[in-house]
Amino acid sequence: MFFVHPQIKLGRLRKADIIKKLSSYFPDKQLVFTDMGRSAFKIIVEKLNLQNSEILMPAYICDIFKPILERYNIKPVFLDIDLKTFHIKHEDIISKITSRTKAILVCHTYGLPFDVDALRSDLRGRTDLTIIEDCAHAFGVKPKSDIAFFSLYKQFPALRGGLLVCPKDWQISLPKTSFNFRDFISLLNCFALFAFIFKKFGKDIAPKMLRKEKLPEPAGLNKLSLKLFSYFFEDFEKSLPHRINIAKLFQLELKKLGFEVQDSKNNVFCYLSALVPNNLTDKRDEIVEKLRKYHVFCTRIWHTPIILNHEEFPNTFEAARRIINFPLQNYYTERDIKKIIKAVKKVL
Ligand SMILES: Cc1ncc(COP(=O)(O)O)c(C=O)c1O
Repeated sequence: MFFVHPQIKLGRLRKADIIKKLSSYFPDKQLVFTDMGRSAFKIIVEKLNLQNSEILMPAYICDIFKPILERYNIKPVFLDIDLKTFHIKHEDIISKITSRTKAILVCHTYGLPFDVDALRSDLRGRTDLTIIEDCAHAFGVKPKSDIAFFSLYKQFPALRGGLLVCPKDWQISLPKTSFNFRDFISLLNCFALFAFIFKKFGKDIAPKMLRKEKLPEPAGLNKLSLKLFSYFFEDFEKSLPHRINIAKLFQLELKKLGFEVQDSKNNVFCYLSALVPNNLTDKRDEIVEKLRKYHVFCTRIWHTPIILNHEEFPNTFEAARRIINFPLQNYYTERDIKKIIKAVKKVL
């Protein structure tokens, strides 16, 4: 069985000294573990005083931002994406800056690094604009700006968790949280048998519970999730090059079948994403559904971005209709990829 979300494969795991490790990853930065990535974003909004301002951001992004932007009365100025990189274009960013713009949210979508240095140079010294890096899909990509946040459970079987990377002088104190029922479901979901049962009978019960959870205020990360992150960190670090190699092989196979895959340069492949062949756009959902019969459980991140407006955002609209995220785990072998491809061929 093949799943997109991180699966636990028990083996010899060694607890990493996570603070030491992360401090070497992010020197001179303050690191704060939060319950979710979105909490980290809320902290950023508050610390940067983004209330009542405008933020430039991709139209093709997770809908979790919508309630946060509304709550803080921030006007999102959405920008269409490039279908080859899923990134917003520098010229669009520059043309949409107004006197109310305080921040630019860039996203390393699916693990594809956005070139922050190039954007900064195109901004020609505009130090009044803060670049916020959404690294929710991009552990392994080094943030280039002072402010970034990660979503740990997308790449680690940590059940939940965000990581805020920010300046050392930000004063942050967060309420503690503890392992709850939703975390327990997420833990089960990291094992193939339960993940299968949830997919088969629970209609994605774990992701839905996760979406519904409403913690209005940012909170800290529970101890168990932090432990899981620490235990899987070294394994992740060691197996990332393998994940990247296997993902590239996967991309080649998908390309042969007419899928459009994205540039793999420095991609950390949080998701193995591909656009279904143009002539099969209307069949995307059917393909995803039929692959389940072969125990290949894909996702469609994001078939429901915040806005779906064809006229203004044609590429976002197209990506939302054609995207499929294929299962990928760090421990997959060439044989696993071949099995998935075989199922895709049968479905096509
Ligand atoms: C691009 C992106 N940013 C931010 C988030 C929020 O992360 P979290 O679910 O940890 O709050 C998500 C996912 O939900 C996401 O896909």
